[in-house]
Amino acid sequence: MSTDNRFVFPDVLIERIRTAVKIAVMTGAGTSAESGIPTFREAQTGLWSRYRPEDLATPQAFARNPGLVWQWYTWRRELICSANPNPGHFALARMEKLIPKLMLITQNVDGLHQQAGSGQITPIIELHGNIHRTKCFEHGHPEGQWEVRGQELPTCPICDSLLRPDVVWFGESLPSDALAAAWNAARTAEIFFSIGTSALVEPAASLPHITRQAGGRVVEINPNETPLTPYADFILRGFAGEILPELVKAAWN
Ligand code: OAD
Repeated sequence: MSTDNRFVFPDVLIERIRTAVKIAVMTGAGTSAESGIPTFREAQTGLWSRYRPEDLATPQAFARNPGLVWQWYTWRRELICSANPNPGHFALARMEKLIPKLMLITQNVDGLHQQAGSGQITPIIELHGNIHRTKCFEHGHPEGQWEVRGQELPTCPICDSLLRPDVVWFGESLPSDALAAAWNAARTAEIFFSIGTSALVEPAASLPHITRQAGGRVVEINPNETPLTPYADFILRGFAGEILPELVKAAWN
């Protein structure tokens, strides 16, 4: 057991990390919790506690009341713009430079991994889009503009349809290129880290099982149990912002 950290990491895990060529990491909202961004399903502060998902994060909700949806996403974006990457984000960015191939898959739309320096060697796989980007509602024309001024909702300069945040809504398909890249990462990874996710939302929740079925090992980093826990080879019970820097220290310092 490596005991020179506050966390005791099994030696076999440290050895596997040190010798692995391909490691997949999937992050969820819990990875940004220590940056002050509420997660989705933690009732006391969760993003959904203010609204119901079906009232906000669906194409039908946007068609019904685009102003309300823009209001929620503007609130979320302002929250995100005031947040900074936390030590967990920086540890993952460091791991990308220490591991031959670290494939970072994120369900988060906050862009904090990029801000922390991840994605400089291997592109980040954004399964659910990115809140800092917009696209048009009718045709998906990409558009960088974001600001919503008063009641005037932004429209697409190409087709004049309303612009919307470039994030995946309930009932929508994930970006096909991102999904294919995530599938491939899970299939080829020797170790799959599931960090800060409740492992409830498909198809992301299936990814660690693809690694298992291909003979890889699964590590879960989460203060709480999830449906993935019984299948994890290693369970690091705690906060990502504390565990990840200690893990980097234990494996490479
Ligand atoms: P959830 O809110 O469902 O789960 C957050 C997870 O993070 C929980 O399991 C917490 O126990 C854990 N957690 C909280 N603080 C943590 C910390 N400091 N370190 C590590 N883990 C911590 O968020 P997601 O699993 O990301 O989809 O939700 C998945 C998807 O559901 C989201 O991407 C979103 C939502 O609907 C879309 O928007 C399409």
